[in-house]
Amino acid sequence: MIARLHDAFSIAEVVRAAERTGVTAFLARAGASSAAEVADACGLVAVPTGRLLTALAELGVLVPCPPDRFRPLVDLTRWSTVMASSWASLEACLRSGRPTVSADTAAGAAEFYPTVVPRLADRFSTAASSMARLLAPFAGRVLDVGAGAAPWSAALAAADPGVRVTCLDLPQVLAETRRCVAAAGLAERFDYLPGDVFTMSLPAPVYDLVLLGNVCHLFDPATNALLLRRLRDTLVPGGTLAIVDVLPSADPAARVRVALYELGLLLRTTRGQVYSIEDYEAWAWAAGFRELSTRLLDGPVDAGLITARVPDDRALRQRSRTSVEVG
Ligand SMILES: C[S@@+](CC[C@H](N)C(=O)[O-])C[C@H]1O[C@@H](n2cnc3c(N)ncnc32)[C@H](O)[C@@H]1O
Repeated sequence: MIARLHDAFSIAEVVRAAERTGVTAFLARAGASSAAEVADACGLVAVPTGRLLTALAELGVLVPCPPDRFRPLVDLTRWSTVMASSWASLEACLRSGRPTVSADTAAGAAEFYPTVVPRLADRFSTAASSMARLLAPFAGRVLDVGAGAAPWSAALAAADPGVRVTCLDLPQVLAETRRCVAAAGLAERFDYLPGDVFTMSLPAPVYDLVLLGNVCHLFDPATNALLLRRLRDTLVPGGTLAIVDVLPSADPAARVRVALYELGLLLRTTRGQVYSIEDYEAWAWAAGFRELSTRLLDGPVDAGLITARVPDDRALRQRSRTSVEVG
């Protein structure tokens, strides 16, 4: 416990010092640099600067470029600004019981998510590749609901040229979706459907797979049950619903992360929470899905993949016809 507190404080101070001394800004400008170059440019001493760079590399913020250089992997300034301003509202949330951002309303999400979704995609990139491996082989039509920067559908599309994706999100967010999809070189296989998933008219059953990545944790149980019922009608018989979200864990280190994540949800939603596998299964079953299964995803976040299928009555009828003919 004390070790975790120790790590939390030291990491926060390492990030703060990197920002305040101009190290982060210099690396963002100059790219791969040695400790001596960073120290020289920022007016610092080389030995402690070298250890700071090593610590940032171990945190996954920088990539070591042998023999002695480091280049930025994530935009630390952007990350720390967003994270710090979000967590700074915790005290107000504890006092008022209200979030400072309403990411669980269409208007609030339209304002909040355009700058946030690329960071989410970074954070979940390993989990997205892991999901694509678990769903393979898959080729077909995909509806990515609440697509954001499209980490999940992009991983599927990257894994198989037969994947064709429609990204559904609020119009203000879809501009960022398009940018990220184009940057991944996947523009030709992606279409876009702007709208509020709760009120827009959804396409008739045309999709083989509906992805719902990091969306359910924003809403209360009744809203999620309703969402799954709506999405079922967009899937062809035999089609798959794939939900990805953070799940509770028994592992002590994961429990800390999940508890912090769930606390953080109240900074941006009124009723958002981390739901159990049983919650997802109950909503999916009530919406008419069958063949439910859950698998954990790789990566530094504690995400799981819950899949469920629309029963295929045609296949059942075909099977019973065949058995009558054979019998
Ligand atoms: C937590 S983000 C997840 C983004 C992406 N799926 C990911 O995992 O990185 C939630 C996404 O749902 C979208 N969203 C929220 N409410 C929505 C609504 N009512 N209709 C359509 N999209 C919505 C947001 O704009 C945002 O892109």
